[in-house]
Amino acid sequence: MDLEKLLSGPLKRINPRLAGWAYSGLRRIPLVRRRLEAEFNDVVAGMEESVKPYRDELSSYRRLPDDGLDHAEVLSLMADLAGREEAGWKGGFASGAVYHGEDGHIAFLSNVIALHSQVNPLHADLWPSATKFEAEIVAMTSTMLGAAETEDEIVGTVTSGGTESILLAVKTYRDQAAAQGIKRPEMITPVTAHVAFDKAAHYFGLKMVKVPVDGDYRADVAAAAAAINRNTVLVVGSAPAFPHGTIDPIEELSALAAGRGVGFHTDACLGGFVLPWAERLGYPVPPFDFRLPGVTSMSADTHKYGYAAKGTSVIMYRGRELRRHQYFTASEWPGGLYFSPTLAGSRPGSLSAACWAAMVSTGEKGYLEATARILETADLIRSGIEKLPDLHMLGDSLFVIAFGSEAVDIYQVLQRMAERGWSLTGLHHPPAVHIAVTLRHTADGVAQRFIKDLEDSVGEAKAHPGEAGGVAPVYGMAATVPARAVVDELLERYVDLLFEV
Ligand SMILES: Cc1ncc(COP(=O)(O)O)c(C=O)c1O
Repeated sequence: MDLEKLLSGPLKRINPRLAGWAYSGLRRIPLVRRRLEAEFNDVVAGMEESVKPYRDELSSYRRLPDDGLDHAEVLSLMADLAGREEAGWKGGFASGAVYHGEDGHIAFLSNVIALHSQVNPLHADLWPSATKFEAEIVAMTSTMLGAAETEDEIVGTVTSGGTESILLAVKTYRDQAAAQGIKRPEMITPVTAHVAFDKAAHYFGLKMVKVPVDGDYRADVAAAAAAINRNTVLVVGSAPAFPHGTIDPIEELSALAAGRGVGFHTDACLGGFVLPWAERLGYPVPPFDFRLPGVTSMSADTHKYGYAAKGTSVIMYRGRELRRHQYFTASEWPGGLYFSPTLAGSRPGSLSAACWAAMVSTGEKGYLEATARILETADLIRSGIEKLPDLHMLGDSLFVIAFGSEAVDIYQVLQRMAERGWSLTGLHHPPAVHIAVTLRHTADGVAQRFIKDLEDSVGEAKAHPGEAGGVAPVYGMAATVPARAVVDELLERYVDLLFEV
């Protein structure tokens, strides 16, 4: 990539810690700025085709149409687009993304959403059904995660997704600590914890203290112990972590936090609706939930392996007192007495209704069966990868399978897989790729197709190194430390592009 060439010369020679500073200095030189601008525009133009495929084909609206379109016309356009995009996920080509996706299940959820399209849980008086659904979603999720086996009361709220659950947990601990006089709150997370914790630290003004993971990609407990100080308000562990699907030593970490009088959050956004069933099926699942006395909060995403429609998650706390720090209330506003449990004001009740419907219609037996299918498929995929001599596995995981290579550039493999229709996840530090196995991969032949395509992709990447375009060079560039500020800028430009008509 020219952008990399342009900068790597001057930046490579300096201390990586100064690279960001040097980059902003270089950027101020008019000639460099012009060259950079041209390079960025080039890279973004290369992305445009995949991000905005409908530009040349469909009319784009920059202003409201004079006359509203016919309902039938709008629906037929949308059905056409949804149909075209279905190929990407329905056949099991995506890592994660759609966790259930069977026709009958989708039709059922869509009916529930249609029934509740006007519902707003903010108006509990108008829609008491919404509060019934949400209270029961929290209760069912906490029971699944050990609430019945502790004397403490486990409470929670429904949120819009894993990120909101995490944002709220961090805000809750910050506010609890503030009430205790801690003015410079710090939070300790393994480097593999979801980036939503970084986002929370950024939004809510906490200092992030990252601890490394060991050779098995599990949080280093001794490092966490050494990092705790009197400003620490929260220690985090994942069950499992997004990158490598590994479960942190939650028992040790939560005991450590409890011993120092600090809160501990298990992020089970990804595994909350898999691990309890995996444990019942006899898979080795270390303790991670409210059965551990030091676990003071948990997040579990209903819109992932809970098989709800997109847009719900559950945040849970040990005790009402802690949950109170999450709430917002206003008693002086001219608009009336106001309270809100989560970040949003008005919320889509349809999604809570669909979440409740997904949970009660799947039932324990449904989750057990789905988990069994997913874990068997994950075993198949794992053993297939293990047979490919140029790849190696990262960490010991149940259903998120991460692999890297010493023999080929793994990002070239990622790109070759993309050319075969696969939407996998690129990881870095170290370079790797993962697939989160869902029910979409359990259909006949999908795991076999994955292994065959992977074998072919590795072969191609080996035979023609450095030739794949797409994401491969961007990841390559992200891996070179001095170019990091460039990658951040590229990401911002990518987001700009998403919102361009
Ligand atoms: C472990 C973990 N935590 C949090 C999240 C964030 O969830 P969301 O994308 O729903 O905000 C994810 C998403 O994959 C995750 O894997």
